[in-house]
Amino acid sequence: MEDKITERVKDSRLMDNFLTNEKLLDRISRRLEPIEQMNAYYRCAIMEIETKFRVLSEQFSLKYDRNPIETIKSRLKSQDSILKKMNRKGIPVSLEAMEREIDDIAGVRVICSFVEDVYMLADCLLQQDDITLLEKKDYIKHPKDSGYRSLHLIVQVPIFLQNEKRPMKVEVQIRTLAMDLWASQEHKLRYKKQIPENEEEAISQELAECAQILASVDNRMQNLRAKLSDSRFQEDE
Ligand code: GTP
Ligand code: MG
Repeated sequence: MEDKITERVKDSRLMDNFLTNEKLLDRISRRLEPIEQMNAYYRCAIMEIETKFRVLSEQFSLKYDRNPIETIKSRLKSQDSILKKMNRKGIPVSLEAMEREIDDIAGVRVICSFVEDVYMLADCLLQQDDITLLEKKDYIKHPKDSGYRSLHLIVQVPIFLQNEKRPMKVEVQIRTLAMDLWASQEHKLRYKKQIPENEEEAISQELAECAQILASVDNRMQNLRAKLSDSRFQEDE
């Protein structure tokens, strides 16, 4: 008899726990839902921008004898990185503030062959009537002290939902293969590495020199292309 009662008490505790967990899960999932929805919106915005570049890539391949786009890479910033960034910038934690203040939740990186292609592709994108340019940072004309070069555009693109048209922000980084080589190598070398303080300056200087060498290779390649392919890049008419 005693045992049966104990069993029942245990059962009811289990049930209580279960109900509490259910409620908790429900509460968590209700809180997660808007974040998940927002992530889905950003994924759609990435698709929109990627498609625009893929369409351009198709057109260039058909129309000209070459394709200026080497690769397109996209990423959605993780929730963890978003929260860290908001914290660092003293932004209050809310979905509205996140959407308003964080520009690089959706990121599309376009790697192209020549420096001229970077500007040409940026123009092609910005000419499209559903694209609004919010910010442009030209780290090719004005490289960062680190040596980093790339063209950054923050654009707004609409996504079309069932009953709604929603403008979304996307950070587009357009760079050459050489610029991308430098950025990825530098990231690999620096990321999570404890660089001794006394070596920091020499290492930064060497990285900046590597960036300059790559910039000069980019310019030489650009000049070679201008010499060799003037006629090949003309529209077939
Ligand atoms: P945020 O507010 O953090 O976006 O700073 P910001 O707007 O001043 O930075 P910006 O938008 O100019 O650059 C941010 C992105 O550019 C980074 O996420 C990197 O992808 C890239 N980037 C900028 N500087 C460097 C650099 O020195 N090295 C590498 N590897 N990437 C860089
Ligand atoms: Mg930024």
